[in-house]
Amino acid sequence: MPPSSSLAHPNIAFIKYWGNRDHALRLPANGSISMNLAGLETRTTVQFDSGIHQDELTLNSQPAPEAARLRVAAMLDRVRALSGVTAPGRVTSANNFPMGTGIASSASSMAALALAASTAAGLNLTERELSILARTGSGSAARSIPGGFVEWQAGATHEDSYAFSLAPAEHWALADCIAVVSAAHKATGSSEGHPLADTSLLQPVRVADAPRRLALCREAILARDFAAFAEIVEQDNLLMHAVMMTGRPPLLYWQPATLAVLHAAAGWRAEGIEACCTIDAGPNVHVICTAQFQGEVAARLRTIAGVQQVLEAEAGGGARLVGN
Ligand code: DP6
Repeated sequence: MPPSSSLAHPNIAFIKYWGNRDHALRLPANGSISMNLAGLETRTTVQFDSGIHQDELTLNSQPAPEAARLRVAAMLDRVRALSGVTAPGRVTSANNFPMGTGIASSASSMAALALAASTAAGLNLTERELSILARTGSGSAARSIPGGFVEWQAGATHEDSYAFSLAPAEHWALADCIAVVSAAHKATGSSEGHPLADTSLLQPVRVADAPRRLALCREAILARDFAAFAEIVEQDNLLMHAVMMTGRPPLLYWQPATLAVLHAAAGWRAEGIEACCTIDAGPNVHVICTAQFQGEVAARLRTIAGVQQVLEAEAGGGARLVGN
């Protein structure tokens, strides 16, 4: 069977996914909203080949660690079940962003894999079906299938937990200036972290309030209202980290430089610079700003002690097929 190749971007969540109602299916505790990150990308090629004896994964030109190969094989199993293909798959995947920067690659990797593998198996899935398939590999990958500004509706079942575009990338010139404060591998990754969410007393409150935050964020994006956007993004971020910090065991992802960036950015906003902060399951700070302030924000971040590197990304499109 001929190979298929795809490209997908990672995304940054403005309203965060943390905790699952069903871990196996990755049905999330709450809906989430994100923006795809242009310029950062995973490219993946898949070919089903009855001449090999098991699924193979080459990651950034190296044979992949077994744990990564098994996660990819689980996705290929789902594609084989949907398509009737029985052959093992040969997968090559590469990120153009350094693995050690703490930028999650599971979203772009699983979105690119869902698209390339389903196409290589002869399926022609809709955007919704692709989002559902990608979600089973990594929850946030559901959001890297549609383009631009994206909402993942939590849903109650496998079939209705998928992401869709709220607005295309061109809708609002926002940028993500990522302050890399540590390139060390995370102590507890997202997959191990989600099951801990329910050990925090605060998670039920956070989940119950999610519809309000989703509505405020959705409205702020549609109206391009940065002040309203910044307020809800930062509140949602702190709620998620409060849950992380108060579970058993607690997850304290912040480093001193994380806090330095949070304080600096609050001061910049008081000066009139349109910038706000959000942090994933790691110490790096994503400073979201309007394009008008991108150069200034990136330059100021580079002056903060402990900031090792600043990556910049604008709003990006959805997952797509590319030439092999
Ligand atoms: C903190 O999607 O990485 O970045 O489904 O186990 O792969 P898995 O988890 P993942 O979790 C993302 C957590 C987050 C918030 C977010 O992106 O919404």
